[in-house]
Amino acid sequence: MHVAILTGGGDCPGLNAVIRAVVRKGEVEYGDQVSGSLDGWRGLIDGETISLDVESLRGTLPRGGTVIGTSRVQPYGVPGGVDKVRRTVEALGIDAVIAVGGEGTLGATRDLFKDGFNVVGVPKTIDNDISGTELTFGFDTAVQIALDAIDRLHTTAESHDRVIVVEVMGRHVGHIATWAGIAGGATMTLIPEKPFDIEAVCQALVRRHQRGRYASIVVVAEGALPSPGTLELPEAQVDKYGHIRLGGIGQVLADEIEARTGFETRVTTLGHVQRGGTPTAFDRVLSTRFGCAAMDAVHDGAFGQMVALQAGHVVRVPLDDAVGSLKKVDEELYGVARTFFA
Ligand code: F6P
Repeated sequence: MHVAILTGGGDCPGLNAVIRAVVRKGEVEYGDQVSGSLDGWRGLIDGETISLDVESLRGTLPRGGTVIGTSRVQPYGVPGGVDKVRRTVEALGIDAVIAVGGEGTLGATRDLFKDGFNVVGVPKTIDNDISGTELTFGFDTAVQIALDAIDRLHTTAESHDRVIVVEVMGRHVGHIATWAGIAGGATMTLIPEKPFDIEAVCQALVRRHQRGRYASIVVVAEGALPSPGTLELPEAQVDKYGHIRLGGIGQVLADEIEARTGFETRVTTLGHVQRGGTPTAFDRVLSTRFGCAAMDAVHDGAFGQMVALQAGHVVRVPLDDAVGSLKKVDEELYGVARTFFA
């Protein structure tokens, strides 16, 4: 078979491990030819692909980013995009496409399946917000990076008797914040699923500091929301793909905490550092398993499916189930985080 693979949306650690696994499995086990679509769907739209083989991918397992590039370009967002993908697929004799991506990329993959394309999805994102899979690769690495930062911020916050607000990524869910907050012993963790009352946050900090603790770490997810009418946030910007650009709530929160409590407060916004660099062992193993499973799915003709992790096993779920709604932070897990607040 001739199988194409693409990586779409924001990059994340583990993408190269998936590509490497797809190619290894395809070439060695099935005798396939594998092509990489450059910059996500853009490559298939513009007819730009490269040939991938085991030899050309040597050394890529530990490397962050994606060797075939990524973008947020979607076939349904470009005039004639779907027809252009069809032309490329026919011209190159591509039998199936493995699309590795988050919500946006997998949504387009689901729609292309409905339009008759042979596609299989692989979930990726540091945000861990894809339904149908307990975990996405990239998440573990992002949490570890956030945790390393929080560990470091504890010592400087304690030395200066300060509050430090740490803003982490995660879009509209708080998985990174919750995990990093629990692991890093955060004083408080604010996530989109639980709108926060700034007055209650400040009172909790004051009570903590009255008990003799003079430093606090507040982890805030970039998409965290104040309770309606309690705190003004600047209007969110939108990128050229209509994708909301989050980020900035950490500064608003730090300013407000300092103004209301009088505690000296600083902010650290981790930003894209959470997406860069080498994947953890867990993410390398998960992405390798997903890559192998995706190639098996292609050979089983399991199109319209996404590989997923459930109860420790790699399974297949319909793309329709995966992209219907975002996976939110579990109540029980957030309850554990809350046990240690203030
Ligand atoms: O979805 C992954 C993610 O890193 C989000 O956590 C973040 O909001 C967004 O991508 C940032 O996107 P960009 O790379 O376009 O700034």
